[in-house]
Amino acid sequence: MRLSLRFIVPLLVVLAAFAYAVLPLVDDLTVQWFVRDLNIRASLIANTVQDSVQDMVRAGDQSRIRQILAKIAQDERVYAVAFCPSPESQPISAGTLPPTVGCADAESFSGPSGHVLASPQGPLLVSVRPLENQGGPGGSLVLVHDMSFVTRRSEETQRYVFYLLLGLGVIVSLLTVVIAQLSWNGWVQGTRALLRGEGLLRPSDQPDAPEFHPIASDLRELIRDIESERRPRDEDRFAWSPEALRAVLHDELRGQEVIVVSNREPYIHIRRGEAIEVRRPASGLVTALEPIMRTCSGTWIAHGSGSADRDAVDRHDRIAVPPDGPGYQLRRMWLTEEEEAGYYYGFANEGLWPLCHIAHVRPTFRTSDWDQYVRVNRRFARTVVEESKSKDPIVLVQDYHLALLPRMIREALPAATIITFWHIPWPNPEAFAICPWREELLDGMLGSSILGFHTQFHCNNFLDTVDRQLEARVDRETFTVSYRSALTAVKRYPISIEWPPAPDLLAKSVAQCRTDVRRRHDLPDDHAIGIGVDRFDYTKGIEERLRAVERLLEQHPERVGRFTFVQIAAPTRAGIEEYDHYQSRVHALVARVNARFAHAPRPPIILLSAHHEPEAVYEYYRAADVCVVSSLHDGMNLVAKEFVAARDDERGVLVLSQFTGAARELPEAIIVNPYDADECAAALQAALEMPDREQRARMRLMRSLIGEFNVFRWAGRMLIDAAAMRNRSRLLDRLVARGGRAGSPQPADGSR
Ligand code: F6P
Repeated sequence: MRLSLRFIVPLLVVLAAFAYAVLPLVDDLTVQWFVRDLNIRASLIANTVQDSVQDMVRAGDQSRIRQILAKIAQDERVYAVAFCPSPESQPISAGTLPPTVGCADAESFSGPSGHVLASPQGPLLVSVRPLENQGGPGGSLVLVHDMSFVTRRSEETQRYVFYLLLGLGVIVSLLTVVIAQLSWNGWVQGTRALLRGEGLLRPSDQPDAPEFHPIASDLRELIRDIESERRPRDEDRFAWSPEALRAVLHDELRGQEVIVVSNREPYIHIRRGEAIEVRRPASGLVTALEPIMRTCSGTWIAHGSGSADRDAVDRHDRIAVPPDGPGYQLRRMWLTEEEEAGYYYGFANEGLWPLCHIAHVRPTFRTSDWDQYVRVNRRFARTVVEESKSKDPIVLVQDYHLALLPRMIREALPAATIITFWHIPWPNPEAFAICPWREELLDGMLGSSILGFHTQFHCNNFLDTVDRQLEARVDRETFTVSYRSALTAVKRYPISIEWPPAPDLLAKSVAQCRTDVRRRHDLPDDHAIGIGVDRFDYTKGIEERLRAVERLLEQHPERVGRFTFVQIAAPTRAGIEEYDHYQSRVHALVARVNARFAHAPRPPIILLSAHHEPEAVYEYYRAADVCVVSSLHDGMNLVAKEFVAARDDERGVLVLSQFTGAARELPEAIIVNPYDADECAAALQAALEMPDREQRARMRLMRSLIGEFNVFRWAGRMLIDAAAMRNRSRLLDRLVARGGRAGSPQPADGSR
């Protein structure tokens, strides 16, 4: 409507102005034409009657003259007609001559164009025509025409012109509006489509839009600029929450389906006699992704590793989870013992795990393990294709178990957007070169659209490795790898936890947790407690932290019997020799240290080598005075973040290894080198002595950081980047299809 007015109002104004200027001109012109016609008519009448009138004059027959004049006066336009024999005589007339017109005045009214007189009856035209008598003057004929018909005609003409202009105005307005609307809509749609990455497209059912060609490259530049500005704006705009993440999925990705693929499943069904227990595994990956899937829905494909997993699924191997309020589908994949041994225990955990962690355990690579790794990755790829409801799903590939999967998915679903996240560190190029299948692994990973690591350091290591191992172009300005005509963005996405934590985890008060945990372990109320929570893994630095506890007690004997370190160690990867040895070594170390301080009424170390559900873990976090994370090498370490999240009382101290990704985000923790037992012992002492005020100040800073940089932001940023990539990819595809510039490689995703 507004658009229409914008066109119509100016048009009507122009037409009105036009009418205002033109109508008087038309009026003048009409009058002139009629005056000329009437004068010609007067001359004609004079010529016609001249001879008859002269005959009557000569015969002195005035009554015949009057008869002739009366005939002339019958014409409706003739107001009066008179014959003046001479200026001095009285006129012989028919009709009523105006009083100002007499024979004496005839001279002044003579002339070819006549004279217009105003009269009460309307305008009159007085035309005087001299008559001849045998070659000499013979008086004059005075003709007075009634011009009121001219005024009537002029008014009519004005009315017609007015209606004509009005009609013209309406038609032109309507045409203008329709055309304007059509072309405006076309431009808006075209421009929008361009900005969405769909412009310049020529779907088979749409006509070509050549008018967009000249602006295509400008728009492309614009899109890039907007995208580069957009992330900081988006991040500022959102307080990242499940709702914000849902909005990203809905707005940026139009509710596109999300498929997560990982080795570890989020819920494990375990048989306990007759009963089936549901367990949540000790896994940073699961901790991070489970709230994301609850928010985004979709399908999570994982290895069904629980003893009762098969009993819980439907005939498509699916089960809706979480059990107490289903929000997404878990699709389980079954592995044979042989497959699990080669792919999971062998290549992933005896090969890649030690390869990527600097923990002084030599990686073991066996061809038979590699074969199983390839085979199982291929099976995961087939399952992704089975579960995908569209040709261009968003697939989130998780971790080192599935390094070949991105390429395999890309080959089966070329338009998929594949975001791969590597949850563990990426080693330097020299270390990675140890792997006999290094090129195959890199090739597999570079099937991804986006490849994420926790830290910039790991991104840099990856780019260095690609540079060294593959014929690829590494762009360190944009952090992209161009390989096999496709682009992969390599980006840092520091993983985090759900914030605020689920209410169940904080339901029991800190005071109650303190009391319950101390009673459970037969410790007095004022007993200081340290806590460690890990998978029982040699990268976690459990030995190092227990040695630091021993050192603390050596250096501060007053703490013996008054401080206990509780270590929760969830059994993991049982059957791998290194793990078995490690777990035995830790058990022996605990026994030795406890024996050394056996004279004390309370043991210095309590080792809980068992799986603990999150509620139980949070109870320990809330009961403790200090939490120690002493990983020798860790991508992020979410235990550190969980401890901070658990402490809504703003108390407790975090001692954190400098070799974790988390140390870069949480400098308010006491940062230690886990290999330095004295430094760790001093950190424990400082933590136990730290005044409440300082604990609160540090805790607040760490809590606000984790609150802001929570796991919804982690996932949201990846999805926003994926959306931008999909749009850009579509735009470039269409440009290429229409013969636009196709010089640079396409993002490795979407619509190709
Ligand atoms: O976060 C690293 C990680 O290896 C995950 O990939 C894995 O789920 C978790 O630790 C636990 O390991 P696992 O799945 O072998 O028990």
